[in-house]
Amino acid sequence: MRVVLLGPPGAGKGTLAAAIKEKFGMLHLSTGDILRAEMKSGSSLGNEMKSFVDKGELVPDEVVTRIIANKLRNSDLSKGVLFDGYPRTVQQAQDLDKILSDLDAPIDVVVFMEVDLPVIIKRLTGRRVCRQCGAVYHTVNIPSKKEGICDLCQGELYQRADDKEETIRNRMDVYLTSTAPIINYYQKQEKLRKVDASQDVKDVLVFFEGLIKSNE
Ligand code: AP5
Ligand code: MG
Repeated sequence: MRVVLLGPPGAGKGTLAAAIKEKFGMLHLSTGDILRAEMKSGSSLGNEMKSFVDKGELVPDEVVTRIIANKLRNSDLSKGVLFDGYPRTVQQAQDLDKILSDLDAPIDVVVFMEVDLPVIIKRLTGRRVCRQCGAVYHTVNIPSKKEGICDLCQGELYQRADDKEETIRNRMDVYLTSTAPIINYYQKQEKLRKVDASQDVKDVLVFFEGLIKSNE
């Protein structure tokens, strides 16, 4: 099963994807995670992309599409794929359809995670991420057992550079202008399913399990 997790910044795409991956073993492809890993490695691509990511602007379509195409061609897709943060423009959605059609593995369902701005701001300003393994926490909603330390690998927790309130607002504007139009794109394909993403993660996961069953 190929699933797109679609939603505004802070909807909980990465958190839900981690829970699904643990339960069903699906391949999790997050362009945000891949770009942050490139930036951390100091590669020339990473350095070039930092100016976009830190300001909350989208990196060029052809860059992310090349990354995703390479990952898809070199990965085991048999347990299913979760797309998180990709596609993010109509152009990327069209490119993904083309890539997946060549692999004979089209998108089955698009989960649109609905959540409103005050919740988004609280989620993103309280988010902490493990520097070592990338696990995601929240200072209030999903705290680590020891403050500032990852439960899974004891790595240091940090705040993403784009999680400042001013950058969050820019990311929301970019989402509304460039990403929201793909809701309509997938609605026309009759693949869109909406979920209230302000619920607890375990309730969103229950919704997802229902989707898997109805696609079997
Ligand atoms: P990316 O990393 O994809 O950022 P984003 O889309 O803004 O989404 P986030 O990762 O901020 O939120 P999320 O929905 O994953 O929420 P999370 O689970 O962490 O992209 C970053 C940047 O990279 C972009 O701005 C752009 O520059 C570039 N980029 C990436 N992809 C691109 C593309 N395709 N094209 C062009 N540029 C691209 O949860 C948030 C917080 O809430 C956490 O603290 C979590 O613990 C908490 N939380 C989550 N779920 C719940 C819940 N149900 N209840 C309570 N708390 C919750
Ligand atoms: Mg994320």
